[in-house]
Amino acid sequence: MKVAIFGTGNVGIHMNNLLTGAGYETMLCGRRTADENRHTFAEGASGAEAILIALPYTVAVDIMKSIAPLTAGKLVIDCTNPLNPDWSPLVPGENRSAGEVLAGLLPDARLVKAFNTVFADVMVPERQLRSGLKITAFVAGDDTEARQKVITLASDIGFEPLDTGALFTARYLEAMAHLNIHIAVAGGGGTHAAFIYHKNQ
Ligand SMILES: NC(=O)c1ccc[n+]([C@@H]2O[C@H](COP(=O)([O-])OP(=O)(O)OC[C@H]3O[C@@H](n4cnc5c(N)ncnc54)[C@H](OP(=O)(O)O)[C@@H]3O)[C@@H](O)[C@H]2O)c1
Repeated sequence: MKVAIFGTGNVGIHMNNLLTGAGYETMLCGRRTADENRHTFAEGASGAEAILIALPYTVAVDIMKSIAPLTAGKLVIDCTNPLNPDWSPLVPGENRSAGEVLAGLLPDARLVKAFNTVFADVMVPERQLRSGLKITAFVAGDDTEARQKVITLASDIGFEPLDTGALFTARYLEAMAHLNIHIAVAGGGGTHAAFIYHKNQ
């Protein structure tokens, strides 16, 4: 599966490395296309089967509006967290999540929330195993087949996928990320921490 990665910052580059390391074909997409092998967002939306959003949430809203007509049937993996400039939680709407807002902007695509609870700093092979346990990648989405594709992708790139069900559970995943950021930034916990859901089976 070819994945267009929207955003070439911390998450975009680390996810690109994990995906290419696992044999996925990728297209790095951003606003600076002068760099070698960079594509426009429209080229990525047209040229790949899947889009991975690694942009600030408010930027993603604008970009999704502009590429929506190109996303019919595509898998969209939303890694965003809705944040204010000071990293505090930005509430995208009453009882809603960034994932649901972005999905609403892409009515013909199949959006899955994933990887937003994983710090970019641990999206590297040497930090994915913790005392023998893989970091959990929570996966939420309304389309079962799309969710399954992301579960397979998450497993392929070294995470332990956990299916949280319908897209409304993105609200919980974004709250988890807000807590993670709060502990890292306000609590001095750093960004090498990671969630592991241990079922004790
Ligand atoms: N960092 C983490 O640990 C982490 C973990 C999980 C999820 N997330 C979420 O993932 C997303 C990306 O985070 P990040 O840490 O990778 O951010 P980042 O390092 O700041 O990278 C942001 C990317 O967005 C692009 N961008 C910013 N403003 C833009 C605009 N107006 N138009 C087009 N492109 C624009 C930047 O492009 P330029 O390079 O051209 O500036 C850059 O490629 C965010 O929603 C974040 O909340 C982050």
